[in-house]
Amino acid sequence: MEFIDFKRIVSGISIGKQLPDAIYVHRSAFENLPSSLSALTKRVGAALKIPDDKWNIAKFGKRDFKITFLNYPNFDTYAYPTLHECFTVDLSKLSLRKADYSDSDNPPILHRKETFVASSHPQWATFKEVTLEGEAAGLFENTRSIGFKRNWEKLIREKGLSLDTAGRLVENPSTLPIKMGVGSSIPEVEIQRHKTAIDRNKLSQPMQILARHEYLSGDYSVLDYGCGKGDDLRELEAHGIDACGWDPVHHPEGNLINSDIVNLGFVLNVIEDKSERDETLRNAWLFAEKILVASVMIAGDSVVSQFTPYRDGVLTSRNTFQKYYSQGEFRGYIERTLDESPIAVGQGIFLVFKDKMEEQNFLLERQHVRRDWLQRTERLPRIESSAPKQRKDFLEKNPELFMHFWETCLELGRVPANDEFELSDQVRRIAGSHAKAFEAMRNKNEGDLFDEASSKRREDLLVYFALSLFSKRKPRTQLP
Ligand SMILES: C[S@@+](CC[C@H](N)C(=O)[O-])C[C@H]1O[C@@H](n2cnc3c(N)ncnc32)[C@H](O)[C@@H]1O
Repeated sequence: MEFIDFKRIVSGISIGKQLPDAIYVHRSAFENLPSSLSALTKRVGAALKIPDDKWNIAKFGKRDFKITFLNYPNFDTYAYPTLHECFTVDLSKLSLRKADYSDSDNPPILHRKETFVASSHPQWATFKEVTLEGEAAGLFENTRSIGFKRNWEKLIREKGLSLDTAGRLVENPSTLPIKMGVGSSIPEVEIQRHKTAIDRNKLSQPMQILARHEYLSGDYSVLDYGCGKGDDLRELEAHGIDACGWDPVHHPEGNLINSDIVNLGFVLNVIEDKSERDETLRNAWLFAEKILVASVMIAGDSVVSQFTPYRDGVLTSRNTFQKYYSQGEFRGYIERTLDESPIAVGQGIFLVFKDKMEEQNFLLERQHVRRDWLQRTERLPRIESSAPKQRKDFLEKNPELFMHFWETCLELGRVPANDEFELSDQVRRIAGSHAKAFEAMRNKNEGDLFDEASSKRREDLLVYFALSLFSKRKPRTQLP
């Protein structure tokens, strides 16, 4: 099936939970789907060996050629089922991504179960009753914060309720929070968190920084956690990057999938509830396989003093909350919350590396001063060497290949290992080995330049090792 047909069929589906970007359909309602779509779903599931008992809801993208297989094992028995795992298949890239929540103590949860099934489902009436019960208790008034188990249960406690073994609501006044005393300085306001998302016409600062460090070259998958209106996400996808995003207000149906890089861009500073803020940082960290980039607004007292104080931040004229940090305060906050040492890459922008080898690569790269060796190579007068004719021939017949190889030698200050030069196979086939190619180029170009490159590279490394003495010493196994 082509994407254009998929899109047409998905937009015509009238059952299932309808969201702006996707439709969710329970397996039991598959007979109501166009046969071509249900057949495609089953074929894809079988081809990728997603076991039949590992999914009961399918999500069909309205704007992208994706099917996600979601597993809520307690869908039939619990009022608000929890997600255990999901498999997202990108049919345009033919890629599969898996997210596993089975051990998570804060997994995503489902509400309004009746919307996922057909009205002929034997439990439809019960599912609907559960939803009406939740609505009457005021649980769905603020949908942005109920998508995960912990927040959901916290809200239920705040309403003086608890959940029985089937997830049904029961009265429990002992869970009500203690009311603040008269004269409290905290104004009673409804914080308009959704208003903090802005339209972007270029990549956000943290994404630009990732691009500058070559993390957006396509080799790393990206999750934009709290993606707002999704402009960054669209830009990444347009460049073919394996990216997904989620936002509790603007993109609640987005995918939360473990990714190499997680961007938590200007999200923490808009959360007025301190424990939810900590939770959000920890959650985003959990999804990061290699790097978390966390950013907040930075401002000093002169800015802060212009606003009404609210909790540990301020209230703006649009009833949004802002927690303005100083650079040191945000560093300390990340250190305490994640027990990790972040690296500042901009004002209010920090990288936290889960992959320690990646961290050392980053630090090493940062000390690596790029010099234009090639330009100097080309300016050098060619020195006639006494190299045998055969050796000169292979250089002359493949000038670009060996110039590229020589540039790499100068860049590294040494002969590259086989896996450090992408055209190594060609070099070895033609010259015999990297060492022979290096000798030939060195004779041809003049060794002094290489000696200088080598010495500069040693200086870079010396600075890298010296700086690393200021932080915890890394074991050798964590050095690139
Ligand atoms: C200032 S916007 C930033 C959006 C986007 N990251 C960007 O840089 O353009 C803050 C976003 O955080 C989202 N947000 C609020 N609370 C959140 C939470 N607990 N978890 C994730 N995102 C949240 C809001 O819905 C809003 O879209």
